[in-house]
Amino acid sequence: MNEPGYIPQIYGRRQDKPLTTRQAQLMATVLPCVAAPDPEAGPIDPSAVFPQADELWLEVGFGGGEHLAWQAARHPNIGFIGAEPFINGVAKLTAAIDAEGLDNVRIHFGDARPLIEALPDGCLQRLFVLHPDPWPKKRHHKRRMVSPWFFGEAARLLAPGGQLRVASDIADYIRWTLMHAQAAPAFEWAATHPADWRERPADWPQTRYEAKAIREGRRPTYLIFHRK
Ligand SMILES: C[S@@+](CC[C@H](N)C(=O)[O-])C[C@H]1O[C@@H](n2cnc3c(N)ncnc32)[C@H](O)[C@@H]1O
Repeated sequence: MNEPGYIPQIYGRRQDKPLTTRQAQLMATVLPCVAAPDPEAGPIDPSAVFPQADELWLEVGFGGGEHLAWQAARHPNIGFIGAEPFINGVAKLTAAIDAEGLDNVRIHFGDARPLIEALPDGCLQRLFVLHPDPWPKKRHHKRRMVSPWFFGEAARLLAPGGQLRVASDIADYIRWTLMHAQAAPAFEWAATHPADWRERPADWPQTRYEAKAIREGRRPTYLIFHRK
């Protein structure tokens, strides 16, 4: 990741409230058992992480982990990796893994980008980026997760027929994503009708962030791209 313009940190705060005693306990005892392999240690072999799984799905910036836990509970045959640098979110997902006995989830506590780069070509069937940090100021656009780099990596990681799902309640971020998708020949936007991007599909649960956006009067858009 040494290309010109590489931004060392593209995420915002890593913590808000202090962890509860229970959360701190789970972070010390459960998180080490469900941690994804460290990308700094070299390429990651998904079949070593999930020897029995039929597919691998990755969620970038899972926030509180509601979407990831929901998907993992409904797809026990699929291995999930979630990446998130926000400690309160990691603590929430760790608690959900523990409470629901989810043995098909691994957490990368940190920036998703090194993890993405350590995964092998064609290993993913689904890639989710739900409500990425919008970085609305023009001078901060370079911090946006969706970027030419991201679409390049998504094309490399997703197997043909795989899906990239992006949601945002920020119109400019949707335009930005569609613009980058158009420049990525490996992807095809699946929408044929406005309902396809205006209505959340039944297999796509609402996240906490999305619920807040709707409460505050912002309407989310749901984008599904197919890896050709
Ligand atoms: C607006 S929140 C949305 C969270 C969640 N997807 C949801 O819909 O509720 C964006 C999330 O992306 C995470 N994030 C930002 N940069 C990231 C990065 N480089 N790698 C992984 N996650 C990142 C943030 O910590 C934050 O939790």
